[in-house]
Amino acid sequence: LNFRAVQFLTSAPTLAECPEDSGAEVAFAGRSNAGKSSAINALTGNSKLARTSKTPGRTQLINFFRVGDTQRLVDLPGYGYAKVARAMKDEWQRHLAFYLEQRHCLRGLVLLMDIRQPLKEFDIHMLTWAVQSGLPVHILLTKADKLKRGPANNTLFAVEKALKAQGLDNGVTVQTFSSTKKTGLDKLELKLSEWLAV
Ligand code: GTP
Ligand code: MG
Repeated sequence: LNFRAVQFLTSAPTLAECPEDSGAEVAFAGRSNAGKSSAINALTGNSKLARTSKTPGRTQLINFFRVGDTQRLVDLPGYGYAKVARAMKDEWQRHLAFYLEQRHCLRGLVLLMDIRQPLKEFDIHMLTWAVQSGLPVHILLTKADKLKRGPANNTLFAVEKALKAQGLDNGVTVQTFSSTKKTGLDKLELKLSEWLAV
């Protein structure tokens, strides 16, 4: 798969408006501001592909990107953004849950967490659901450039240990990642290629 050739496909406000549920998809999920859109841009080498923002809650639609003929990457709206109106938040969460539960072509979830605040309540919620559903998860500890190598690796080990302790390590892998410094891209590409193989 050539991630440099990824193209924007479409945005969908609801599951009904998503592209046909065929081929293979990998979704990028995580709290608002975790760096989902930035990771997709780093992966594709196109800084303008997915819209990023300093303001959490930027991505409000389910955005689809074409990788191969039948493969897609999906940029999901961030969860846990407090400032969005309650009704709107519930509405998104409904669509998000719907997407995750009903999408047959979904092969795996890339779960992004800021390395400085990993495993927040929503992350655990998402992980628990994925592990119970048998959906593989690849965790990116993002913004690793904000920490020195030692503390970054310590966080990686601590997260792996915590997952094991909570029985959330089945089908779950973890790595450090930085969109700014472009570190961890190889590992991510390897995982995506594995999941999206047809
Ligand atoms: P929502 O769409 O709101 O859910 O956010 P998102 O998860 O798509 O985050 P986005 O990619 O828009 O990034 C949020 C902020 O974090 C932006 O200001 C980015 O520039 C910054 N950011 C993202 N990745 C990194 C990284 O690897 N290192 C650093 N230092 N900043 C990053
Ligand atoms: Mg985004």
